[in-house]
Amino acid sequence: MDRRNFLSNVGKGAVAMAAMPSMRALGANDRIRIGLIGAGDRGMQDLSDALKQPNVECVAVADAYSRRRDLAKARVPGITTYDDPMRLLERKDIDAVINATPLHLHAKYFLASLDAGKDLYSEKTMTWDIPQAVACLKAGEASKQVIQIGTQHESSGELKDAKEWIAKGYLGKITMVESWISRNTPRGHGQWVRPVPSDCNPEHVNWQLFLDGRPEPRFDAYKYINWRLFWEFSGGNVTENMVHQNAWITSALGLKDPPLAASMMGGIFSEKDGRQVPDTFNVTLEYPEMIVVWQSTFSNSHYGLGEHFLGSSGTIEHVSGSTDMITGRTTGGVSFYPERVNSPGVPAMHGESKGVNHMANWFECIRSRNKATNAPVETGYRTAVAGHMANLAYRRKTRVTLEEAMQATKADWM
Ligand SMILES: NC(=O)c1ccc[n+]([C@@H]2O[C@H](COP(=O)([O-])OP(=O)(O)OC[C@H]3O[C@@H](n4cnc5c(N)ncnc54)[C@H](O)[C@@H]3O)[C@@H](O)[C@H]2O)c1
Repeated sequence: MDRRNFLSNVGKGAVAMAAMPSMRALGANDRIRIGLIGAGDRGMQDLSDALKQPNVECVAVADAYSRRRDLAKARVPGITTYDDPMRLLERKDIDAVINATPLHLHAKYFLASLDAGKDLYSEKTMTWDIPQAVACLKAGEASKQVIQIGTQHESSGELKDAKEWIAKGYLGKITMVESWISRNTPRGHGQWVRPVPSDCNPEHVNWQLFLDGRPEPRFDAYKYINWRLFWEFSGGNVTENMVHQNAWITSALGLKDPPLAASMMGGIFSEKDGRQVPDTFNVTLEYPEMIVVWQSTFSNSHYGLGEHFLGSSGTIEHVSGSTDMITGRTTGGVSFYPERVNSPGVPAMHGESKGVNHMANWFECIRSRNKATNAPVETGYRTAVAGHMANLAYRRKTRVTLEEAMQATKADWM
């Protein structure tokens, strides 16, 4: 029975509707009531973005750290705050939630949100390991809830252009995609390292809620704030940034499955500050008759970030924040360049399509009950698995096939 039939059968049931808020059919003028789980840096950006959309109201925020709850309350007076997200999820008057917790907690609140009947915007990477990615895919596919993964470049105009050029066959046979992110780091200050606020202590932080069963004997404020640097909580730059670009590349190419195999080499070369996750590395992902290479550096930002799709008939260049060698200006955008031999007379092109706001796309889909958001659970799955295969290959110092990766357990990512 679909949502609409269910509602018309229950019908008149204002009472039943109150009991199942996210089953309400929502018109353009109906308010969508949201809750935020994880009101850190990204959560607050997502919240601001959500509140710019029409008829969206935030009624509750959950965060394990009182400072974050206070900041959220200052931003949106009148909300109720909780330390435990499960209390927020119990509320029947919340239609949808944004999950912007640290990576190791994504799957827990992803599954709990769907169980509670909430539509879900879940930050990337969808999960911390592969078994969780499998569980979230299963739950997402079985659920009627509308899911958007926070890979916002999936809503970009550049992706529209790249998809169109590839679908029209302008590139011919694509055998390689090279992609990269390059950032600079001030000497002596490692990328991502954040200062620890003076009130970050057990009095203000629910440490056990953060650990979610991880065996850490003592409260560690540095780890709490800088969780990105440690495998227990993070997948490093693979889960921070590669997934964004892997989503973009696989969407442009129409690749629905994770890679067949992955390799990854590199190390901690930029700043040796006690972090566990590497800063400088390259990943090779093997897809049928194609490789996708992704490279990370935190020492030099000259080339910004981008992707080159290399086809027998042409090239797509998608760049952002790259420095022009001649003018010194930063350049960006998506372009197509023909190969002279296989595409005689085909002109070069520059993409002009407009994108949409990723958050707006989620709300539109919530109103229309359309599960095909711009970054549905399937995108979350194939990009999470690609990232976790790469990290597994790095940690095992070997090439890892998809079959091998599917056998890995939680211990492999700790
Ligand atoms: N889409 C993007 O471009 C983008 C950009 C940045 C970050 N992110 C993602 O957003 C997520 C959050 O990153 P961040 O930089 O905001 O991290 P952060 O550490 O600033 O925020 C995490 C918040 O979660 C809270 N928290 C910890 N455990 C909790 C629990 N059990 N229940 C509720 N709250 C808990 C922390 O107190 C903190 O406020 C990450 O997964 C990151 O990869 C996405």
